[in-house]
Amino acid sequence: MKLFSKRMLSRWGIPSSAKLLKQLHQLAHSHEAAGCAVNALQTGEFSDQSGRHESLGIVRVPLEQAALLAYLANHCDSDLSIEVGFGMGMTAAVILASRAQAGRMFDHRILDPFGLPGNAGNQVQDFLTDQFGTSFRRVRKHSQFAMAEMAATTPPSSSSFIHIDGDHRFDSVFTDFFMADRILKVGGFIVVDDAKFPAIDTLTQFITHNRCDYEVSRLEIPNTAVYRKVSKDQRSWDHFTPFPVPQTQNWTSVV
Ligand SMILES: C[S@@+](CC[C@H](N)C(=O)[O-])C[C@H]1O[C@@H](n2cnc3c(N)ncnc32)[C@H](O)[C@@H]1O
Repeated sequence: MKLFSKRMLSRWGIPSSAKLLKQLHQLAHSHEAAGCAVNALQTGEFSDQSGRHESLGIVRVPLEQAALLAYLANHCDSDLSIEVGFGMGMTAAVILASRAQAGRMFDHRILDPFGLPGNAGNQVQDFLTDQFGTSFRRVRKHSQFAMAEMAATTPPSSSSFIHIDGDHRFDSVFTDFFMADRILKVGGFIVVDDAKFPAIDTLTQFITHNRCDYEVSRLEIPNTAVYRKVSKDQRSWDHFTPFPVPQTQNWTSVV
């Protein structure tokens, strides 16, 4: 059984939150998509140079998480990166800008069958299509099924960076992790939003206690869990270690 390390991010060589934020602001100065996203995460309002405008409402990740995503996207060594949940497209904008800045070919696929009520996010999606062309693909399918298809049709270990922020129910997020693991390279990262929520924290606890092939950073970045795949899964067929399940019920009030 592994214990959480309070300094796992630095053990992985990831800079401090202050440095990550500085790098995010530099990216925002050099790339319009990142600039619009950082401004929107700070003000709650998205706008671009051509006059598109949308309010983010409650769909806002912490800036520190956006900074971590930008860093990992910049260091992603596979063409393919994956996001579960488009929402208002802010994390997508930061990831796409960072991948573009890294200067290698990339294929960022975002799995989301629904979109938000009232077509919120549609203008951001048009903006990202204008900015990134075919390097940005929105797949309108449930992530659990879309990733199963990708696992079946792409070579194993085809991605080293996957961000999960879709259906927050335990069975869905567990399936997202299970499928993402089938696609993820050894050395690659899975980042999960809303890590304080008990359903997500239950996934973190499961991985910590049962998946020796992963190292875990829990809440070092606000509301964020990061899982790093460090080896192949070599459990026996009947392996199971009991693990603590958070007992919080009113989970939307914990953030
Ligand atoms: C919190 S939002 C994502 C926010 C996004 N990271 C951002 O920066 O704006 C969650 C999204 O997950 C999507 N979603 C819900 N269930 C899903 C599923 N089964 N597969 C993929 N996406 C799903 C919703 O449609 C919604 O757009």
